[in-house]
Amino acid sequence: MRIIHTENYEQLSRQAANIISAQIISKPNCVLGLATGSTPIGTYKELISRFENKDIDFSEVTTVNLDEYCGLTPDNDQSYRYFMNTNLFNHVNVDMAKTNVPSGIADDPQAECERYDNLIESLGGIDLQLLGIGHNGHIGFNEPDDKFTKETHIVKLGDSTIEANSRFFDSYDDVPKSAITMGIKAIMNAKKVLLVASGKDKQEILKKSLFGPITPNVPASILQLHPDLTVVECE
Ligand code: PGA
Repeated sequence: MRIIHTENYEQLSRQAANIISAQIISKPNCVLGLATGSTPIGTYKELISRFENKDIDFSEVTTVNLDEYCGLTPDNDQSYRYFMNTNLFNHVNVDMAKTNVPSGIADDPQAECERYDNLIESLGGIDLQLLGIGHNGHIGFNEPDDKFTKETHIVKLGDSTIEANSRFFDSYDDVPKSAITMGIKAIMNAKKVLLVASGKDKQEILKKSLFGPITPNVPASILQLHPDLTVVECE
């Protein structure tokens, strides 16, 4: 495990963008696993500026996102598809047909979970997976539980997640109560994992995840077993 401590959020964003840029440069047709949340926004801004400077090219890149809220259509401004379009995809030359976010509105959610895992497998897995971390240790929407769930699955969101995400909605009641998330297997099978964590409030869960016992009660703790984990953090 490599931990890169940075002075501030701007530096964290540049470091994370360096690592993602290196991946794209060394393998132009790579599969990037992408994340939503407030932490990666600065990283995406950096990637956009590198694209504008012609330092990186997304034309052959495929993306797979971690998760999506159940019940939100792609054009809902709180959906993760909308987030990815507005924070990254619309500003770079990625082929939209090669961008993948699980659907939160599939008629058959279980079939959608299976489709998503098959898709990741058919792509040959993920080259670099970007992750944020929740205050409860979730990665994607893999919430604390008494077991790790390997496959893409539908998850009931924990109260602390709903509370944390309510800042983006008009009220707590408006936050979807379930989501579809990539499971632990696709994340752990990614060739490289890049975890970003910003703020004093993330330090405790980060310490617990990286140095505490490996337990599904702290989903990110499984990353201790990943052979190529880089953590970029700032307080
Ligand atoms: P945040 O979310 O980047 O908005 O803190 C991280 C997460 O919940 O995965």
